Amino acid sequence: MVKSLKISLLSTSLVLIILGCLVWYNQPKIITKPVFNKALHSTSDPASQWVVVNKSRPLNPLTYTPTDLVLPNVATRYPAGEASLVASSTAKALEHLFAGAKLDNINLMLTSGYRSYAYQTDVYNGYVSSIGRVETDKVSARPGYSEHQTGLAADIEPTNYKCELDACFATTPEGKWLVANAYKYGFIIRYPADKTAATGYSFEPWHVRYVGTLLTTEMHNRSIETLEEFFNLSGGNGYL
Ligand code: DAL
Ligand code: ZN
Repeated sequence: MVKSLKISLLSTSLVLIILGCLVWYNQPKIITKPVFNKALHSTSDPASQWVVVNKSRPLNPLTYTPTDLVLPNVATRYPAGEASLVASSTAKALEHLFAGAKLDNINLMLTSGYRSYAYQTDVYNGYVSSIGRVETDKVSARPGYSEHQTGLAADIEPTNYKCELDACFATTPEGKWLVANAYKYGFIIRYPADKTAATGYSFEPWHVRYVGTLLTTEMHNRSIETLEEFFNLSGGNGYL
């Protein structure tokens, strides 16, 4: 008699537990959207998607190398070179950006992504030989001071090569599409026209920087174009 009472209590408890689990499982889940917060990512850590690199904010260490470089699945100007690599987060976002452009009949090509300290040394010295140091510092970063070294930056051109790495890119359908749509994919035009005082560099409509959509949406909503202005950081006053 006692034994059958025990069994019946046990099975009732079991049924109640199962019912409880079912009710919990079928409850509508609350999905919380990430809320923007300036402290969410570091602006100094070279591996952070919000790192701010400029003439007064070198990479630390100067020879920093990202650990997650990959070849994005997009059209590339120099498929075999290291400059076709980008950080994995940037690769995914670039693929979405290029696919979105394609839907609008805009054909983009990656010209230059990651550049190592050694490669940036060659690029910088090449400019110095042809246009001198003063003019070079307006357009090319010294090694250890380029955000290309983070793997988060990308130079983009049309697949027809028109206005390759030239300010006239801004007047092409591809350049116009990029400036209007980059933020939707987590990119900013890093060196806008008339922002030399903030960034330290002249207009580069072809150079995009991945920071993620949380930040681009915030910057877009507040009409702030540069990382220096947004985070209130120095950069436009030249090398220290
Ligand atoms: N052209 C940009 C500033 C760089 O060299 O990183
Ligand atoms: Zn660039």
